[in-house]
Amino acid sequence: MRILVVGSGGREHAIVWKLAQSPLVEKLYCAPGNGGISTLAECVPIKAMDIEGMVRFAKDNQIDMVVVAPDDPLAAGMVDALEEAGIRAFGPRKNAAILEASKSFSKDLMKKYGIPTAKYEVFDNSEHAIEYLKHQEYPIVVKADGLALGKGVIIAQSFEQAQEAVNNIMQDKVFGDAGNKVVIEEFMVGPEVSVLAFTDGKSVIPMVSSQDHKRALDNDQGLNTGGMGTFSPSRIYTPEIAEYCMEHVYKPTVEAMNKEGRKFKGVLYFGLMLTKEGPKVLEYNARFGDPETQVVLPRLENDLVEIFNAVIDEKLDATDIQWNNGAAVCVIMASGGYPQQYKTGYEISGLEDAERDANVVVFHAGTKKENEKFLTAGGRVLGVTAMDSTLEAAIAKAYEGVDKIHFADRHYRKDIGRK
Ligand code: AMP
Ligand code: GLY
Repeated sequence: MRILVVGSGGREHAIVWKLAQSPLVEKLYCAPGNGGISTLAECVPIKAMDIEGMVRFAKDNQIDMVVVAPDDPLAAGMVDALEEAGIRAFGPRKNAAILEASKSFSKDLMKKYGIPTAKYEVFDNSEHAIEYLKHQEYPIVVKADGLALGKGVIIAQSFEQAQEAVNNIMQDKVFGDAGNKVVIEEFMVGPEVSVLAFTDGKSVIPMVSSQDHKRALDNDQGLNTGGMGTFSPSRIYTPEIAEYCMEHVYKPTVEAMNKEGRKFKGVLYFGLMLTKEGPKVLEYNARFGDPETQVVLPRLENDLVEIFNAVIDEKLDATDIQWNNGAAVCVIMASGGYPQQYKTGYEISGLEDAERDANVVVFHAGTKKENEKFLTAGGRVLGVTAMDSTLEAAIAKAYEGVDKIHFADRHYRKDIGRK
């Protein structure tokens, strides 16, 4: 098969890496891809949001399957456009990707179908939102309705902070149209677990659990980032919790989407908080998580092409998905200054040395290849991933890899996997 993967980050590198292991794959493309991906797939300079360009490329190059990985092209209907052109595509259609693209939609869905989540109200008028905030307990959570690059959630400690958040989102439109509505939500407490699941709209098969570290600095200090590292499995996601979530969250979500006439096919990501009252949904994503994918796919025993085919053909129930019993840890190496200002274009050394261990793989998030050299090209640069039989061993191995890789101003957390 000739497969095109859409996207350019560490998640896409992990998907391409796993697809490249399939005997079913004849040729891999990635658009736009990055330096690391270019060692496994032919990178084509089409922007991830260029729906027309992607459809044209897929047609002109006899692509058998397009895997749409990022949220914005899914929300904008790239899968619909590919299907209309007769091209097989992996990922939810626009009317199902709304589960991530609109928080008010997902909250209303959960309320309607009794799926456990924080109590909330939705407002499309900032004055009404602020009036409501006057009578609430704090902290409280203010969320922009739409896609906001992971920055649309504000935990407000006081009325003043919440009011400022509402004004920023709804009046100053700091997230553009994503701020036409806000969701104001009860503040919950508890550890967070990510569970990604394959679903063809009929069955839902959860992947192994993972946890991420969102803050920039050790001990969860510093600013929120796109993710500084992940590990799998989570130590707190017990078989009992998994069973509860299957019955009360995963299956009901897939069924609810069917009942709404929005069949969801692809990867459904459940962001869960394990509260004293039981697991509750923090958010849905309509895609593989980044950097969760970098620790989940290395544990997958199956051929990923077969799973993608089963999802597209709605034959997932006939697929036996197996995971290895070990553990995986991904340490993000970022540019100094990330998530604020940082410089790029620095040469990266030690990659080959780090990957000499067969159980270490370096997924590139923001690199480019120039004259056989890899240069930094983003805030998150690399995800050094290690597999071993236990989390402890995988943590040690991942940091051995990190120690071998150098570039100017490199920054990484030293406590990934320790929570
Ligand atoms: P979201 O994008 O909705 O997952 O929110 C991003 C992060 O904000 C989550 O991973 C949580 O750490 C935090 N968060 C979101 N909603 C709540 C809530 N209701 N209570 C406490 N923390 C929350
Ligand atoms: N790691 C969180 C996300 O992919 O949205």
